[in-house]
Amino acid sequence: MTPSTGMTPSTGQAAEPARPPRAAEPAPPPRAAEPAPPPGAPAPAPTLAFGRTSRHDLDNPPPDLYGRPRADRFFALLTRFSDVYTPALGSPPLRRSPRRPPSRGRAPLVLVVTAHRRIADDVVELRLADPAGGPLPPWQPGAHLRLTLPSGRIRHYSLCGDPADRTGYRIAVRRIAGGGGGSVEIHDTLHPGARLTVRRPRNGFVFCAEPRLLLIAGGIGITPLLPIAREAQRRGLDWQLVHAGRSSETMPFTEELTALAPGRVTLLVGGTPTGEQLLARAARGAAVYCCGPAPMLAAVQQTFDASPATALHFERFGAAPVRDGRPFTLRLSDTGEELAVPADKSALDVLRAARPGTPYSCHRGFCGTCRVRVLAGTPEHRDRRLTAEERADGALLPCVSRAAEGETLVLEV
Ligand code: FES
Repeated sequence: MTPSTGMTPSTGQAAEPARPPRAAEPAPPPRAAEPAPPPGAPAPAPTLAFGRTSRHDLDNPPPDLYGRPRADRFFALLTRFSDVYTPALGSPPLRRSPRRPPSRGRAPLVLVVTAHRRIADDVVELRLADPAGGPLPPWQPGAHLRLTLPSGRIRHYSLCGDPADRTGYRIAVRRIAGGGGGSVEIHDTLHPGARLTVRRPRNGFVFCAEPRLLLIAGGIGITPLLPIAREAQRRGLDWQLVHAGRSSETMPFTEELTALAPGRVTLLVGGTPTGEQLLARAARGAAVYCCGPAPMLAAVQQTFDASPATALHFERFGAAPVRDGRPFTLRLSDTGEELAVPADKSALDVLRAARPGTPYSCHRGFCGTCRVRVLAGTPEHRDRRLTAEERADGALLPCVSRAAEGETLVLEV
């Protein structure tokens, strides 16, 4: 994951002190969200993206730290260095002195599933712990885990437990039958005793503990907001939470939330709430934290300027809507099959429809999981990960990158 994503590592157990909203953020390109998806609609893939924005840059956040349209050169070089040289550090000549105790560094964790229980329709909660029973690395409300599943799939899930509990991590996963298979694998195979590799918690949805808060969740988007609500309650902040979902049966943690502070929780069940409905409980000067699918975020962003709130933090799951897309064509090298990529779909979506096994993770152009090679054609790179050399060598991240209208990209598959 490159630093340009805005993700930050967890640095401790306590939430950060209150700080004023920022004017502009290294947020990813804007995307949208869905409140409660209509019945029968396919659920979005459970990947996460993060952002924070003020009312002035909702529609056009800068693509890197300094607003340049291209990836930050320093971080691009850093990523390249890390990708090339990090594996070499495991070779005997480069190992550290035996006199120095081995550092735990940022090495991934191998955790064991200690509990797997159904908490709502199509939602299971997993508890992960150190097999030796040791304490887990600390985390802050809003943090997430990156899981490498036994199949090799990589998925990100928000932590929904209590940061004070260092004996285990809790995550909740909605089953998405038509997705990439990650949630189904978790539901069907990660039972107590199963082991998996987990990267230490990271936080791209940092809770700033502003004095007045409105937390807005869509469906399973409640997961990062649950620990934020707990922390807000613990600090005695003035908070409200709105949770929208298709039905009460599909909405996890309802009892836990209402037990926390019954007068502060509003459930919007069924239908598709408007931005006005979602923001109706925002107090003057409040900070809004919103997590949910793209249409929900879009509704909140579009209505935000008319609300009395002053700052918006968001975390999104699923891919961002395509911006400034033009139709182009993919040609698969092994069969010669041609796939039309419409203006409003990503090349990855089209590729996955034809080749369901195509790997992906972030949908955001920073993890590199979906990387393919272009044998012919001129791509329009929109990622923040690939170096100029990698691009020159034909690398392409089809989750975000495209081509000019009418162009054909021949992919090595
Ligand atoms: S899925 Fe992560 S870069 Fe494409």
